[in-house]
Amino acid sequence: MRHHDTLMRAVRNTTHGGPRLLEIQRVARPERAPGEVLVEVHAAGVAYPDVLQSRGEYQLRIPLPFTVGCEFAGRVVEADEDSGFAPGDRVIGVAGSGAFADYVVTPADRVVPLPDQVDFVAAAAMPINVFSADFALVERGRLQPGETVLIHGAAGGLGIALTQQAKLHGARVIAVVSTPEKAELARRVGADETISPYDFLSETRRLTGGRGVDMVLDPVGGERFTDSLRALAPRGRLLVLGFTGGSIPTVRVNRLLLTNTTIIGVAWEGLMPVSSVSLPEQWGRLAEHVLDGALTPVISEVVSFEHAPDAVAELDERRTTGKIVVRVRE
Ligand SMILES: NC(=O)c1ccc[n+]([C@@H]2O[C@H](COP(=O)([O-])OP(=O)(O)OC[C@H]3O[C@@H](n4cnc5c(N)ncnc54)[C@H](OP(=O)(O)O)[C@@H]3O)[C@@H](O)[C@H]2O)c1
Repeated sequence: MRHHDTLMRAVRNTTHGGPRLLEIQRVARPERAPGEVLVEVHAAGVAYPDVLQSRGEYQLRIPLPFTVGCEFAGRVVEADEDSGFAPGDRVIGVAGSGAFADYVVTPADRVVPLPDQVDFVAAAAMPINVFSADFALVERGRLQPGETVLIHGAAGGLGIALTQQAKLHGARVIAVVSTPEKAELARRVGADETISPYDFLSETRRLTGGRGVDMVLDPVGGERFTDSLRALAPRGRLLVLGFTGGSIPTVRVNRLLLTNTTIIGVAWEGLMPVSSVSLPEQWGRLAEHVLDGALTPVISEVVSFEHAPDAVAELDERRTTGKIVVRVRE
């Protein structure tokens, strides 16, 4: 192969200076090691780890300079013969970094087959949110049909995936959202009721006849946390998913004893080099619902490759309502 054939476009972090200092450069195509797949990227989702990586604040430390981007949809170019993947296969997947580029390399167990019916742009908006929601509800929360769940940040990327999947499991979903537009979005993706963060405790009690909910899913944290515990029925469980509200809450544990409450931490580790999650196993639960449209993500914007750094900045500045996807190949 001639040298220029091995060069590709990539969104590079060279300074840890934040999204605005990400640069599009031409760099060598990554080389695949045994156990990895080389994928031609068609579309990549913009996710919160991209913001953190652009400042060097992500838990996974990657030496400068490097290519950002954590989730993608594309076609396999090279894979081990016994990997289950062959050149040309359509896949979606995740990588610790490197997805905002023409080609990405990732371990073969971090990609799963993508059905022909799902286009690359829709698929690229799914991996982190869809897999994290499944992990939270099934593996950590053990959600049962007929249970009632309260979802904070329900119109956010993760909140939408949680709402869609909780409905598929036969739960009743009460969505906590801060604006009428977000309420409309939450209802559109399946929420049974929407309430405001400012009086969610009294509203939850009203909607559940004073009993409370079986499960709270909380990607927000902050000030709401104690009222979230109060919103639980006896033997309820609260899943800790994130802290978009800013502060990390603390809890007086006597509260847990009095009501047989369980607090469950949730970290979907698909981006980590060593991980306890299994994408193929999760895909076994999810693929049919990706096909029947029940997990269709809400995409606010599709941008060209040149605009990938701006898209990461938009997410950082909280100017997005749905998912932004970077179209890498036409
Ligand atoms: N644990 C895991 O495995 C896992 C997996 C994926 C994501 N996460 C985490 O989950 C969190 C949510 O991710 P996401 O992609 O859904 O984010 P997102 O799309 O930005 O949504 C976050 C939601 O949080 C709410 N919020 C409350 N206070 C806020 C504040 N001060 N600033 C901004 N938003 C605020 C907003 O809803 P309202 O305005 O309606 O309140 C917003 O819609 C992130 O912290 C992410 O890192 C965790």
